[in-house]
Amino acid sequence: MNRPLRIALTKGRLEKDTVGLFEKIGYDCTAVREKGRKLILPIPDGNIEVVLAKANDVITYVEHGVCDLGVVGKDTIMELQGTFFELVDLGFGRCKFALAVKKGTSFYGGYKVKTVATKYPNITRNHFEGKGMDVDIVKIEGSVELAPLLGLADGIVDIVETGTTLKENGLEVIEDVAPISARLIVNTVSMKLRQAEIEKFVELVEKNL
Ligand code: PRP
Repeated sequence: MNRPLRIALTKGRLEKDTVGLFEKIGYDCTAVREKGRKLILPIPDGNIEVVLAKANDVITYVEHGVCDLGVVGKDTIMELQGTFFELVDLGFGRCKFALAVKKGTSFYGGYKVKTVATKYPNITRNHFEGKGMDVDIVKIEGSVELAPLLGLADGIVDIVETGTTLKENGLEVIEDVAPISARLIVNTVSMKLRQAEIEKFVELVEKNL
């Protein structure tokens, strides 16, 4: 038998949703469920090895071919891009990128160049370039919602899921930027060298979504 197909999962919610999907397929995910602090975990009956990583690292491992496959959010894919194939929209991890402002304030009026705070500068730049609009982008690492409240930015581009964070901080969405969900990605060389196995796996995934 070939070495196991190695799949990198984004730690946290996407990991849990993917394990749920694998169990629906019929794989025994005991090792992943009882992982403790271990980071590489076998699913022997699927000839699969699961690697747990942060979202950006999932893309790095798949790009470099040290993992054949990955499960990662469209948000990370859009921000980092990179060379790999995006095979399946897994449908879970659904949320969106949106432009939000302090409730009642306007964003599009006036001549002053607007400042936008975000954890996702590439997505933000592309969005406003697409509109032919010049904006100043400030990269924030933590809770971006703070930036307009502190007077650092006119708006934010961030992930909105339930909308609770915006609401509790007196902000509101004024524009949807892009929908987000989890995607199955594959290394380009693995896709050639292990095509039959990967296609079989993708078929099982699609059947059980
Ligand atoms: C994201 C995002 C918002 C929040 C939106 O942060 O940056 O702050 O979720 O969710 P809601 O619409 O359901 O309130 P996350 O919790 O992922 O933490 P992070 O700041 O570490 O990215």
